[in-house]
Amino acid sequence: MRIALAGKGGAGKTTIAATLARVEARRGGRVLAVDGDSNPNLAAALGIQAGRMDASGSLPASLVSRRLRGPALTIPVEELVDRHAIPGPDGVRLLLMGMPAHADEGCLCAAHATVSALLGDLVDRPDVLTVVDMEASPEHLSRGTTRHVDVLLLVAEPYYRSLETIRRLAALAAELPIPRMAVVVNKVRSAAEAEAVIEFCQRHRLESIAEVAWNDEVVEADRAGVPLLDASPHGPSVAAISQLASQLRAAT
Ligand SMILES: Nc1ncnc2c1ncn2[C@@H]1O[C@H](COP(=O)(O)OP(=O)(O)OP(=O)(O)O)[C@@H](O)[C@H]1O
Ligand SMILES: [Mg+2]
Repeated sequence: MRIALAGKGGAGKTTIAATLARVEARRGGRVLAVDGDSNPNLAAALGIQAGRMDASGSLPASLVSRRLRGPALTIPVEELVDRHAIPGPDGVRLLLMGMPAHADEGCLCAAHATVSALLGDLVDRPDVLTVVDMEASPEHLSRGTTRHVDVLLLVAEPYYRSLETIRRLAALAAELPIPRMAVVVNKVRSAAEAEAVIEFCQRHRLESIAEVAWNDEVVEADRAGVPLLDASPHGPSVAAISQLASQLRAAT
């Protein structure tokens, strides 16, 4: 299964993606985490040391070529993962889409095309759970980077602009062959906030799949540079994300 997380800046995409990936890897699944953000943070959220990252770097543009039906990998997907994935805690393997190395360098078309082709080839690997952490911009949808995912999780905070963002993302995603979209509301502080989001989802015909409450432990873990799963393995945030993982698993 291939899952991508999208939403407004700071909504909690990376925190949830990293925790989901590790929770599933702990259950024994083969998990590939893909940092699709050109300002990458997923390694830190997973608990991969910065030193390891420098050694491995990002996916090179030479891995993809343009074909009539869209971008395609130039090597088998297993080889790509073996060559470029960075090993992380609990057996999660991480791939980095890449980030600009220099100012004035130009666009990231090739980097997006590589992720798109990777996800396309992973369609034939249902045994691998792929979790793609996207950047806040809608570019991964306008470029079709996430066209090959099974589920697009729309992560939102319970305030108007964050919800408006997922509504726009959902409209774009509806133009791609993505079979399922579902809303994860994060940083919920009260029952009234939770109800307002449910009402928003009903009004816009969006499936609401999970609710993660505001939790100071998440902020403290981030401040300390410790993955949420290590800082608070038995806390309510990990419990809510584990429940989300179970629901996604049950649907396959
Ligand atoms: N449930 C929560 N309760 C409190 N703080 C949270 C919660 N979830 C995430 N945060 C905090 O919100 C901040 C943003 O989280 P995160 O980096 O996961 O968001 P993001 O959507 O990936 O952001 P970006 O768009 O910049 O990539 C972090 O400081 C994180 O610790
Ligand atoms: Mg992020």
